[in-house]
Amino acid sequence: MKRQFQLCIEWLLTKQGDKMKQQLLKILEQFKNKKILVVGDIMLDKYIWGDVSRISPEAPVQVVHVMKETYAPGGASNVASNISALNSKAFMAGIVGNDEARKILLGELKNMGINTEGIFTENDKPTIQKVRIIGKSQQLLRVDYEKKEHIHKGIEQSMISFFEKTIKNVDVVVISDYAKGVITQNICESLIKISKENNKPIIVDPKPKHRDLYSNVTLITPNNAEASEMTGIEDGDDAVIEMGNKLIKYLNTNILITKGEKGMSLFEKNGSVTHIPAKAKEVYSLIGAGDTVVAVLALAIASGADLKEAATLSNIAAGIKVGKIGTASVSIEEIKAGIEEL
Ligand SMILES: Nc1ncnc2c1ncn2[C@@H]1O[C@H](COP(=O)(O)OP(=O)(O)OP(=O)(O)O)[C@@H](O)[C@H]1O
Ligand SMILES: [Mg+2]
Repeated sequence: MKRQFQLCIEWLLTKQGDKMKQQLLKILEQFKNKKILVVGDIMLDKYIWGDVSRISPEAPVQVVHVMKETYAPGGASNVASNISALNSKAFMAGIVGNDEARKILLGELKNMGINTEGIFTENDKPTIQKVRIIGKSQQLLRVDYEKKEHIHKGIEQSMISFFEKTIKNVDVVVISDYAKGVITQNICESLIKISKENNKPIIVDPKPKHRDLYSNVTLITPNNAEASEMTGIEDGDDAVIEMGNKLIKYLNTNILITKGEKGMSLFEKNGSVTHIPAKAKEVYSLIGAGDTVVAVLALAIASGADLKEAATLSNIAAGIKVGKIGTASVSIEEIKAGIEEL
């Protein structure tokens, strides 16, 4: 009798699992041609690849003989590029400097079909750039170009006009905040107001020092360390529940805390808490997992998913992302295979 009962439970769970898989596949089918406004700190990632075989005669450092240089959109523009790779349209808003990096970055974004009308140029700042020098597949050095200052008032106004013009055209708004100057109080308040007036969901990848700007959005996605800093609760096994509950109360928004190899925990305003275990089999690169999470959340919500479904899909996609070598984005086919393996 007990065995029969057990079998019955297992059958029910498989049935439920099947239903969930079908539902996720159905949502994924809707991913095409969605429109997402991404606002935040745009960066260019440059990789210099070379060979290392000698020490410099000038100083005790290695000499890298450059073989090739490659570029990829970074920061907020990596969210936009993830959205493009998933067959949807990103409208990017942010700033660049008046330099060579700007040309390269805008070229890359246009090649991906990303709308760049919301990208403004500030002459007194460099385009934010992170240059990684890699010798024999090992990173030797990173060189950063950036000037962290709030964007100018005139640019703020132009960007807000761009939001007003574009909002009706998009399904979901993403704020990808690296606290490098674009997400000012005025930009954030205006964007939230405009999005709410037009009933558009807003997802925020936050930076702790801007915590108070994110009240009343749809969902924020801090990682463990960011949630800890935002709540003053020390990170630890049971702490995540406390952090989630405190952030909901504080900000009146749903919270998705990402926990690296431990997956993610979703805290909904209705009191529901869902822990989703990580999916990666092998881990090669952790760079950009957070950007993949936000891009997939936005597309899932634009496709009619509820928050649990959207989080589950983003967890599958991030698991695929960390298992990839290099900077390539995750594709629809890969997510589909990931759902079928559930
Ligand atoms: N080591 C790992 N193994 C399996 N999955 C992982 C691992 N690291 C990250 N992930 C997946 O990626 C998601 C986001 O990762 P993480 O919590 O590290 O975000 P993050 O710190 O914001 O990342 P980023 O550095 O890109 O901003 C996790 O919720 C999980 O699904
Ligand atoms: Mg992150």
